[in-house]
Amino acid sequence: MSMLEVRNLTKRFGGLVAVNSLTFDVEQGDILGLIGPNGSGKTTTFNMLSGAYKPTEGTITYNGERLDGLKANKICKKGLTRTFQVVQPFPDLTAVENVMIGAFSQTGRGGEARERAMAVLKRVSMEKDALKLGKELTLLQLKRLEIAKALATEPKLLLLDEVAAGLTSTEIDDVLELINQLHSEGITFIVIEHVLKVIVNLSHRIIVIDFGKEISRGTPDEVMNDPAVHAAYLGEEATIA
Ligand SMILES: Nc1ncnc2c1ncn2[C@@H]1O[C@H](COP(=O)(O)OP(=O)(O)O)[C@@H](O)[C@H]1O
Ligand SMILES: [Mg+2]
Repeated sequence: MSMLEVRNLTKRFGGLVAVNSLTFDVEQGDILGLIGPNGSGKTTTFNMLSGAYKPTEGTITYNGERLDGLKANKICKKGLTRTFQVVQPFPDLTAVENVMIGAFSQTGRGGEARERAMAVLKRVSMEKDALKLGKELTLLQLKRLEIAKALATEPKLLLLDEVAAGLTSTEIDDVLELINQLHSEGITFIVIEHVLKVIVNLSHRIIVIDFGKEISRGTPDEVMNDPAVHAAYLGEEATIA
């Protein structure tokens, strides 16, 4: 049994098929890359896996248990958590308070939530920034905070939605190091990413989607050499080349 089994996952918005019959497995310890041009259905896939959207069709099975139709907080409690493409901390709360909101999904006690939040900030090298306000953080700190918020829910399978977007090359290296560290600590990942360096460095396997449908899958090498992938990215050459 795989950790995650996705079968014929489909989401329609009216006449638009945003995700079209995706089928894939994620094994414990995997880092699966999910890539595709803008609007190809990547975030919608995460929205279904994390319970924000109910699939129109298809099933999601996590550790043998059906998740499709469950509420986001139930799914999160089971250890499947996602980060958001658009990082939106509470601007007037401190970093540690922002993380405590995630920690409250696992504990109802304020003192314990704060302790957990501090421990998580340490894991993402942000202990010195714990008392800074959300609005005072740099983009790199915000990305780390976004990962910290997710870590506070104690994920076993973590879905990262474009964590590298907007970062400089050096900052991307920092994020790569962080993800590799968390992976070595036992977290399994599905990573959506536009930045090729991140996907090729991190992913064990990659699935490429276009208009919601799978067009390629394989190792980073196989996928990057697939003409179908290059055709899909025409006009977006700058990000894939
Ligand atoms: N809540 C929604 N209502 C209607 N259409 C949506 C909604 N969310 C996403 N879409 C559409 O679904 C398609 C896939 O979007 P998305 O999953 O965000 O793409 P990606 O993350 O790959 O850029 C796009 O055409 C987008 O406009
Ligand atoms: Mg997206």
